[in-house]
Amino acid sequence: MKRAVVYQSKTGYTKKVAEWIALALSADLLPLSSISASDLLGYDLLIYGGGLYAGGINGLKCFNAVISGVDGAQIVYFATGATPKRENVVPELIQHNFHQDEGAVPLFYVRGGFNYTALGLMDKVLMIILKLKIKSKKEADRSPDERGMLAAFSRTVDFTNSNDIEPIVKYATERGFL
Ligand SMILES: Cc1cc2nc3c(=O)[nH]c(=O)nc-3n(C[C@H](O)[C@H](O)[C@H](O)COP(=O)(O)O)c2cc1C
Repeated sequence: MKRAVVYQSKTGYTKKVAEWIALALSADLLPLSSISASDLLGYDLLIYGGGLYAGGINGLKCFNAVISGVDGAQIVYFATGATPKRENVVPELIQHNFHQDEGAVPLFYVRGGFNYTALGLMDKVLMIILKLKIKSKKEADRSPDERGMLAAFSRTVDFTNSNDIEPIVKYATERGFL
């Protein structure tokens, strides 16, 4: 069985999680920017991960375009985000990113972190707009996520935990990919 973890990461959180998964599954680790369809031929399991940006999985469209030329591999996805893992996070992400219902796509959510200083200019501008939007609300009306977002501007937060990859490892193991 041949396995690979493909990832796209802006500030390093998805990369860290992808490295843990690749290590646990003895899988090849491939940055999305370095691959084409021919690099993915012959794999039985392909795991793709990207950070969440306004609810969208970074690099997903590009990865799906690359694998449209690849047959026979089981595809599994994961997303990292700053928000805590909630019960409905996966169904919402499947709906938003794949326009399908829960269960139609094997997708896992792994909590990442937030590093404002490592962001590129465009993302910094987006975050400043978001910050102004949150700040325009009365303090009592701000959600816990919005409060967490405001706090994260002044300090880098890293919520990654190697135990959080266990559901992905279990999924691959139970289906005989190891
Ligand atoms: C512009 C912007 C939008 C974001 N949107 C979300 C979001 O919708 N949900 C979430 O949980 N985290 C969101 N985040 C936080 C990132 O998903 C988080 O930092 C992620 O772990 C980044 O992964 P990466 O460094 O591998 O790209 C956002 C961050 C930025 C800068």
